[in-house]
Amino acid sequence: MCGIVGYIGSRQAAPIILDGLAKLEYRGYDSAGIAIYDGENIEMRKAVGRLSVLENLTHGGETMKGYMGIGHTRWATHGAPSDTNSHPHMNTSETIAVVHNGIIENYIPLKKKLTDRGYTFLSETDTEVLAHLLDYYYKGNPLEAITKVLHRVEGSYALGILFAEHPDEIYAVRKDCPLIVGAGSDGCFIASDVPAILKYTRTVYYVENQEVVKLGKDGMQFYSVDEEEITKEPVTIDWDANAAEKAGYEHFMLKEMYEQPKTITDTISPRLQDDRIVIEELHMTDEELAAVKRLHIVACGSAYHAGVTGKYVIEGLARIPVEVDVASEFRYRNPIMEEGSLVIVISQSGETADTLAALRESRDRGYKVLGIVNVVGSSIAREADACLYTWAGPEIAVATTKAYSAQLVALYMLAVKLAQVRGTIDDAAAAELIRDLRRLPDQIELLLGQKEKIQRFANRYVGAKDIFFIGRGIDYAISLEGSLKLKEISYVHSEAYAAGELKHGTISLIEDGTLVVAVSTQPALYQKTISNIVEVKARGAFVMAVTNEENKAMEKASDYCVYLPETNPYFSNSLAIIPLQLFGYYVAVGKGCDVDKPRNLAKSVTVE
Ligand code: AGP
Repeated sequence: MCGIVGYIGSRQAAPIILDGLAKLEYRGYDSAGIAIYDGENIEMRKAVGRLSVLENLTHGGETMKGYMGIGHTRWATHGAPSDTNSHPHMNTSETIAVVHNGIIENYIPLKKKLTDRGYTFLSETDTEVLAHLLDYYYKGNPLEAITKVLHRVEGSYALGILFAEHPDEIYAVRKDCPLIVGAGSDGCFIASDVPAILKYTRTVYYVENQEVVKLGKDGMQFYSVDEEEITKEPVTIDWDANAAEKAGYEHFMLKEMYEQPKTITDTISPRLQDDRIVIEELHMTDEELAAVKRLHIVACGSAYHAGVTGKYVIEGLARIPVEVDVASEFRYRNPIMEEGSLVIVISQSGETADTLAALRESRDRGYKVLGIVNVVGSSIAREADACLYTWAGPEIAVATTKAYSAQLVALYMLAVKLAQVRGTIDDAAAAELIRDLRRLPDQIELLLGQKEKIQRFANRYVGAKDIFFIGRGIDYAISLEGSLKLKEISYVHSEAYAAGELKHGTISLIEDGTLVVAVSTQPALYQKTISNIVEVKARGAFVMAVTNEENKAMEKASDYCVYLPETNPYFSNSLAIIPLQLFGYYVAVGKGCDVDKPRNLAKSVTVE
């Protein structure tokens, strides 16, 4: 996902912009660039590679004089990573510069029209079309040119724009891609996300779709796409400044793993009132909840895996049928949905394009959508009919841990709430479930204490080529997430399998020494999973078991055992995930991987 930072004020702009881009590196990128108005012209520097290349090119921004500018870290979509394809992009006369996050879906016909009118293009990007289109419509009034462009482009965009003839203002525009603006003591800022400007201001405005912001060094004005001035309410960011830093941990991912107890406490506490679950944000009465006939859970990646867990827990407790879809499939498969269905979209970033599209598809069909989202004010949070925030705070590591764990407990609370209103559990059972929920943070703390033990075991698998995760029922759901954690940060191939399915093909891949991680937390299935362990061991596998302390038979059946404290079987994924996160993390550390920013990945996939 691209990163945008803009500044206009009384200080030299380039160092501030580069500092802000560094705080956005977590979003994943392959090139970076900056454009500064130097008093006469727009000076631009851009380079493929890490931000440090650009910093070296500009001596940390010192060589670029000027008090207003825009910067960008690019996650390539149209056009391979290259200096030329990096942003900013300018019109031919270099009097307009633009940076862009998103995709201009109709850039090809627009590019043809511009080419037919004599425009020439330097890059392969969709963004360069914007620079020339702004040039085409610019007759001296930036706002007029911008709004004309907005009426003609289709797709998603967050933009920062400079006009050399208007050196006292910069412009920000937003549609479907996150963008905030803020005012500090020395000037005004544009940013894709809060960490970029947190050290300068805590008062920000979330730019809404089709809004245009004109920023000067002393303030800003907001306009609609029809050039009408609008007023907006600011949001105060109460994140502690170093919450977005590593706080002494080697990686953001480890820091965020250790934040999971607090994340869960923060997410459940406001919604547990004695022995009742109270989720006011649902904006649904108990009667409306009881009338829900079917749930569709839609998400991507780890959020999808949380949804798979949610299916088992909600169906088990509330006896409502639950369908779980990968968002990129849901939005195109023309799903069959019945009256009385409720759609739940899960997203840490709240900006994942496929999940946002699934939300819109559902709402277009007239279905109510509940978002389970971590980023306040994000697109999914604002477009859902109701939003259940996971109070995990900023999650910087690309591989989610604390936000995923918060999604799990959000789904548990929903399951208990639904079960209570539907009468499938009585008050005593609800009280016991709530008691078990409250115990999860301490139990996770205990499991995090096994860090060294897991690290020693993980070091043995730094050279592994294939690792399999197996489980039955809810243990299959957590196997999916354990497998993804390992492969996305250590690049070791891995697959998760329903344990009963292994013998239908994949068992042919088991060789001498192949590691199989078997998760077994469901008492009713202990023996079945042990049978699967026997099958793979017979073919040479080495088995790491993750199971409950009571399951003594596993000691003999497996080669290495990690025991979990006792909890309700429906909540066991929240405990089993801890050794699996630690395992994946230490294999990746052992391999010297870039744990927080794995290759090819972005923190939020805001394009299809
Ligand atoms: C998380 O470890 C993964 N990097 C990724 O699968 C992520 O869960 C997925 O892209 C969904 O992101 P979201 O929760 O922000 O929508």
